[in-house]
Amino acid sequence: MKIAVYPGSFDPVTCGHLDIIKRSCKLFDKVIVAVLNNSSKSPLFSFDERVELIKKCITDIPNCEVQSFGGLLVDFVKKSGANTIIKGLRAISDFEYEFQMAMLNKKLAPDIETVFMVTNLNCLYISSSVVKEICHFGGNAEGLIPSEIIKDIKDKIEKEC
Ligand code: COA
Repeated sequence: MKIAVYPGSFDPVTCGHLDIIKRSCKLFDKVIVAVLNNSSKSPLFSFDERVELIKKCITDIPNCEVQSFGGLLVDFVKKSGANTIIKGLRAISDFEYEFQMAMLNKKLAPDIETVFMVTNLNCLYISSSVVKEICHFGGNAEGLIPSEIIKDIKDKIEKEC
């Protein structure tokens, strides 16, 4: 069974992430979306909230599941019985950081491969930060965040920010 892990902070999940999830689920027998922390960011949503938001968006994808993990990505991948990490690339500017991460993960776990998928044209400009900012200022988030979770995200941002 070919199992892949799609990691990210998903704070929150966006249409760009969902595009990568759907396309990678066609390539692998199982895709585990792993909600992790990026130590350089302070997430707005808790681990549980981020997991629940993703779960609401993947109800029609039978070979996809979501979990959270507080440690190193490679340790999660090993624990899951996977050997592939999927990352989305939006632009050349993503490449330098992603390349460094892929090399470091390879150094930590030589048997784990990183596979890059090119983000769809209509998602190239999306990021979790811009989505939060648009919701914070009452903008229209349709097409940026999956429709199933727009209300949840707006409610949270109204309450917290
Ligand atoms: N479409 C649209 N937006 C996308 C996207 C896509 N396909 N893919 C990523 N993005 C956005 C994300 O929303 C995020 O936006 P933000 O910066 O506004 O929050 C941004 O691009 C960066 O995403 P990503 O590169 O996935 O980084 P991340 O911060 O979401 O996740 C981790 C990074 C969590 C995977 C990484 O820090 C990690 O592995 N942490 C665990 C500890 C570890 O192992 N560290 C590495 C040691 S070598």
